[in-house]
Amino acid sequence: MYVEKLVCSRCGEVHYPDEKVFFCSRIDGRLDIYYDYDSISDVLTRDLIENRKKGIWRYKELLPTREEVYLGEGNTPLIKARNLSEELHIEIYLKDETRNPTWSFKDRPIAVGVAKGVEFGVEVAVTASSGNAAASLAAFSARAGIKSVAFVPHFSGLGKVAQLIMYGAKVVRLKWTGSEDPTVRMMKEVALRYNWYPVPSFGPFNPYQFEGNKTISYEIAEQLSWTSPDWIMIPVGGGGLLAGSWKGFKEFRELDFIPDVPRIAAVQPEGNAPLVRAFKQGRGPFDIEPWGEPHTIATGLEDPYPWDGDAALTAIRESGGTAVSVSDDEILESQKLLARREGIFAEPSGVASLAGMIKLVKEGSIDRGDKIVVLITGGGLKDMDVILERAEIPPVLEPDVNVVMSYLGL
Ligand SMILES: Cc1ncc(COP(=O)(O)O)c(C=O)c1O
Ligand SMILES: [Zn+2]
Repeated sequence: MYVEKLVCSRCGEVHYPDEKVFFCSRIDGRLDIYYDYDSISDVLTRDLIENRKKGIWRYKELLPTREEVYLGEGNTPLIKARNLSEELHIEIYLKDETRNPTWSFKDRPIAVGVAKGVEFGVEVAVTASSGNAAASLAAFSARAGIKSVAFVPHFSGLGKVAQLIMYGAKVVRLKWTGSEDPTVRMMKEVALRYNWYPVPSFGPFNPYQFEGNKTISYEIAEQLSWTSPDWIMIPVGGGGLLAGSWKGFKEFRELDFIPDVPRIAAVQPEGNAPLVRAFKQGRGPFDIEPWGEPHTIATGLEDPYPWDGDAALTAIRESGGTAVSVSDDEILESQKLLARREGIFAEPSGVASLAGMIKLVKEGSIDRGDKIVVLITGGGLKDMDVILERAEIPPVLEPDVNVVMSYLGL
């Protein structure tokens, strides 16, 4: 392992790799993980990476664990969006994260978080999640022989709850009324009281899983023949995906694997956009106001307080990027567009990035000649409720050609 130290993002407290530590003693910040890049660059080359098994573990020198829990995570396709590129006169690539083992990108961070739990010898893992991270934790814990407990909000999509049940997690659905996220409070309380291993997908409670997000950028760089795109569109909830992706690109540049890094665009729903608001107001990284009462169909992006918002805000600014919010209607429109024009069915949280891209292109914030990667982060079947509430369900017909043809109107 090439971890040098862990440093609290808020108070600067330092820890070392062999300590069994998840947060700083004040529980106030994320333990940022620093690696010995000189030693890594002595051993890790682009050739070596290319000759290894595909997936997130081919970058193991850049991950903070000696263990591996493998379900086929990562190695997702980067697909040229031919139809959308033509329509919008711009070069668009879709990083299709719906193909992960539990159908969302969360398998990247959670695989790393659970692998670290195996290294620590933990028996119970606990998470707070709108559904995807919990589903992923349940699957990887099942694989690793660890018990899992998941606190999810009452509005979590049925597909996600079904996953939790089937993977054998203890599922606790909590009523969420005000502005405080009850799932996080409960996770924190039981983790501290019973010494359970916290594995949400935000850094302040588990710094190891945060690192798994980096692998999405490593893959994109490899898939673009060791270059980076001009822009990358990232949907934001807690901000871990965005901040981790940025760290991944920066590390690859530091190791001289790629010449440049992309600009980052953060996308949030209008019904919960604390990071976008903070960016537009020019706030400092530790001065992000929580959203009052979140309300959006993109339930995966409904964190009123972006736990990794400090790192995410810094990443957007360092990259020369931007932040944009989109309405639920724009998200639903993009969901349809992606399915009908490119054949990828994603959940609302997973296509907010596309809605954001369309808005930025229309506004002229992105140049027409640019190469853009859009992260499509979660599969459509997870949120069937959203579809069924809006779609017209076809009637049941007599199996008669005339009846069928008159119905089809073709
Ligand atoms: C499908 C999907 N996309 C994007 C995100 C946002 O990721 P993050 O919370 O790391 O910002 C989530 C978070 O739950 C998600 O479920
Ligand atoms: Zn601290």
